[in-house]
Amino acid sequence: MERLPGFRDFYPEPLPHADLWSADLRQRLFQTWRDVARRYGFREYDGPPLEPLELFTIKSGDEIVGQLYHFTDKGDRAVALRPEMTPTLARMVAAHERTYKKPIKWFAIPQLFRYERQQKGRLREHFQFNADILGEPDVAADAELIALLIDSLRALGLTAEDFVIRLSSRNAWHEFYLRHHGDPAREYDFFQTVDKLERDTPDATDKKLTALGFSLEAVSAFIRAGQPTAELQIILDNLAARGMGDYVKLDYHVIRGLAYYTGAVFEAFDRRGRLRAIAGGGRYDNLVKLISGNRVDLPALGFGMGDVVLTELLKASGRLPASHALLDAVCIIQDESLRPETLNLTQQLRDAGCRVDFALTPSKPDKQFKRALDLGAAHTVTLERAPAGNLLARVKCLATRQEQRVAPADVARLLMSPTPPRDA
Ligand code: HAM
Repeated sequence: MERLPGFRDFYPEPLPHADLWSADLRQRLFQTWRDVARRYGFREYDGPPLEPLELFTIKSGDEIVGQLYHFTDKGDRAVALRPEMTPTLARMVAAHERTYKKPIKWFAIPQLFRYERQQKGRLREHFQFNADILGEPDVAADAELIALLIDSLRALGLTAEDFVIRLSSRNAWHEFYLRHHGDPAREYDFFQTVDKLERDTPDATDKKLTALGFSLEAVSAFIRAGQPTAELQIILDNLAARGMGDYVKLDYHVIRGLAYYTGAVFEAFDRRGRLRAIAGGGRYDNLVKLISGNRVDLPALGFGMGDVVLTELLKASGRLPASHALLDAVCIIQDESLRPETLNLTQQLRDAGCRVDFALTPSKPDKQFKRALDLGAAHTVTLERAPAGNLLARVKCLATRQEQRVAPADVARLLMSPTPPRDA
């Protein structure tokens, strides 16, 4: 039985095959996202993976609606697997916004499902780091959010040479659209055409733009001129003040595919422009109002960063995080008569918070040692009886191959003291 196309199995390292996905790497990405979000004062939330279909048909836009996994459940409800987190967040915040002081700064790491045509960087499920701020109309929030996006990539070792945030504005495009007398009913079609500008051929774009009453030349000239709006200039200055100026550039190619964006929008790309967007987001000041049926009106903004393109970028830039020792120790049983004492020591070490494994059944000591290496242990610990009859623990550091003999009660302290990585 094969897994479905576009879905992934995550294996512990070392991976049996280069094309498989690492459960360890996934864990490290999640940890980094959590750490950085908390540094910025964001709180974690979560919602259901299955939602009423209508939540996504209201305002996500045709593209994402066409990619929904949806069905009728046994209670005759039209439901969908979540393709994105933002409508769920808007629903959750609208339901209980009074409980929370504004601005609300929340993050989540949902698994999302989109029935997309499979291609590089696009699968049918992915994990997405979402960070959103609700209840703050000032563009200072836009800058804060972009700073968080930059820092969550920097925390993985990526630099201004690896990625760039392309900053743009739906407002600027909206004004362009009005200036050129665009039909208000077709504005989203226009936005979608601009969104695909870099992927479609000039001919195809030109045809679509002409049908909307625009010319490719006028659109390209606007992008080339690249004049920041007053709002965008404030965001750029704010990021420069944080020493993050090198990570952002104004680029009106970006407009975002989702329908609900209203103000500043941005996408993170690899510098060489070979990969799809790593992350995307922006302001969506009307979504909470829409989803709450006009009950709650809260300005909002956020971004989503997927694990798929990010992993491709980490691989391409040689920055996949090295895997750390997975175990603090393997207790080796050289003398089976000391199994009860070894069980006792193992338990003591685990109680002290050490990660410890041992051979469940008798096996040769060299096999146990090899297994310790395979499991990525930092140490081996072998109990032995001293001539005086007392027990001693031989603790071997697998990085330096140095051995020490200590009393069993001192092993935990030794294991917890910092050791060099095994392949150092
Ligand atoms: P999005 O641009 O649709 O935005 O997705 C954000 C990121 O998720 C993309 O840049 C990409 O890295 C990743 N991604 C999306 N679809 C796939 C896929 N099929 N396979 C792999 N990765 C994918 C949103 O979803 C917005 N809800 C983000 C947001 C949050 N806006 C405001 N708050």
